[in-house]
Amino acid sequence: MKKQREFRTVRGYQMLNMENKSLTSSMEDYLEMIYRICVRQGYTRISQLADKLNVRPSSVTKIVQKLRKLELIDYEKYGTIRLTKEGKLIGSFLLKRHEIIDKFLKNIGVEETRLKDTEMIEHDVSINTLKNIHFFNEFISSNKDIKERYDIFRAEFDNEIDLIYPI
Ligand code: CO
Repeated sequence: MKKQREFRTVRGYQMLNMENKSLTSSMEDYLEMIYRICVRQGYTRISQLADKLNVRPSSVTKIVQKLRKLELIDYEKYGTIRLTKEGKLIGSFLLKRHEIIDKFLKNIGVEETRLKDTEMIEHDVSINTLKNIHFFNEFISSNKDIKERYDIFRAEFDNEIDLIYPI
């Protein structure tokens, strides 16, 4: 049941791309945020999005218009923003993708830079890599002993490696 739904959301997204409606990274960020909010309260507003995304309302309006053109949201000026059926499908995929990357980084031991790195990786990761990262996360979840061994291994090496950008 769960697997089927994931497949459908990924496919919905691929179909959107095929129709040449591909979203920019910031459109994806907005749609993901609209989805997060709408899951809880059913709708959102420009002011709430501006607040949550830490941007000016005028920037929000621009992107919201674009999402509306793609028929991913319903929006009337100064009114409420709601997801269309397709918007929900893609929004739920974007949130899922975010969560998979976040969990992966957590599994390999990333803490402070996790949110920032997730925000960078999520937009460019291929469906194939995402699927395999998901399998890896599931594997780690069902093999706690391996995670524990990895954490010990990591802790031992942590002070030995000195990675800096060589310029
Ligand atoms: Co995100």
